[in-house]
Amino acid sequence: MTDIKRILVIGAGGQIGSELVVKLRGIYGNENIVSADLKDDVCPVLKETGLYEQLNITDAQRLAEIVKKHKIDAIVNFAAILSAVGECHPMRAWDVNINGFINVMEVARELKLKQVLTPSSIAVFGPSTPRENTPQETILRPTTMYGITKVSGELLADYYVKKYGLDVRGLRYPGIISHETMPGGGTTDYAVAIYFDAIQKGKYTCFVNEDTRLPMMYMPDCLKATTDLMQADFSKLKHHGDFNVGAMSFSVKELAAAVQKRVPDFEIEYKPDYRQAIADSWPMSVDDSAARQEWGWKPQYNLDTMSDDMISAIKKKIENNKLSC
Ligand code: NAD
Ligand code: SER
Repeated sequence: MTDIKRILVIGAGGQIGSELVVKLRGIYGNENIVSADLKDDVCPVLKETGLYEQLNITDAQRLAEIVKKHKIDAIVNFAAILSAVGECHPMRAWDVNINGFINVMEVARELKLKQVLTPSSIAVFGPSTPRENTPQETILRPTTMYGITKVSGELLADYYVKKYGLDVRGLRYPGIISHETMPGGGTTDYAVAIYFDAIQKGKYTCFVNEDTRLPMMYMPDCLKATTDLMQADFSKLKHHGDFNVGAMSFSVKELAAAVQKRVPDFEIEYKPDYRQAIADSWPMSVDDSAARQEWGWKPQYNLDTMSDDMISAIKKKIENNKLSC
């Protein structure tokens, strides 16, 4: 296990960051995980259980000050503009996802940090990539600005490993499904919204068609993949910033059927918008054998076990009058 003592999680207020901070605080100690985000109205747990700093990742000077102030020795970089918002604001996506990321890499290089973890995405693939069981090494020609920034991020990660010997790791998350913090403007957000709307309204209007099939992962598996990769032996990794990680793959029709089985009166209608073309350009499933071989990746949840858990968690939140962040 890498000898990391104090981690800065940037983009900690987002869907994954807000849960990863809690998990990392459990592993490394509350006082050793500093959370940071552009926004100040983050999930209360971030401020209640440890340190929180407001940070714009594009501000290199403030980033360096925070790293020095808290004696940070590793950074998890979750600050990003996701695919759907990125198509509405392409230059903002470039600025945060690329210029922000380079700030992280430069501060890590200059201050000799022990590790940087930065996620990539299935968005690195494009319409010319094989869509089924998409290989680890394949065509990377995305058609979204988000995807372009993610391919560039993977290349930069590998560049810093090779040129500077920096320990940089990253994984290509599929669509992440969770109930704590709402997703931040991605194409896969429908797979979260469907559960909330089914329970709260009994119906859902989906922005992609029923045959849309994408790779997905439940949050506990996402957190496990992330911490397992962080703790893997760096010398054993042949890949660095670009591990495919899979868990499940289903069409919206299959997802709706899983919801209907548990919420019998549930109804769904389809009104595809610009996100349909994004979804159609991404894989339906991925080959994650490199992650399995190099650091022992193995998911636990499938569509049925995830649906049971999502629905019971959302019902509990409604009973306790405590909906998601
Ligand atoms: P999110 O949109 O929920 O959270 C991103 C966070 O970054 C937000 O809290 C936002 O306020 C913050 N942020 C935006 N601009 C910032 C800036 N300039 N400075 C500091 N913070 C800023 O995203 P997420 O789903 O938690 O994604 C985390 C990472 O995982 C991202 O790199 C994303 O590309 C990747 N990813 C996510 C998914 C998914 O389905 N959620 C899938 C593939 C990859
Ligand atoms: N869930 C993300 C998105 O849809 C994939 O990276 O943007």
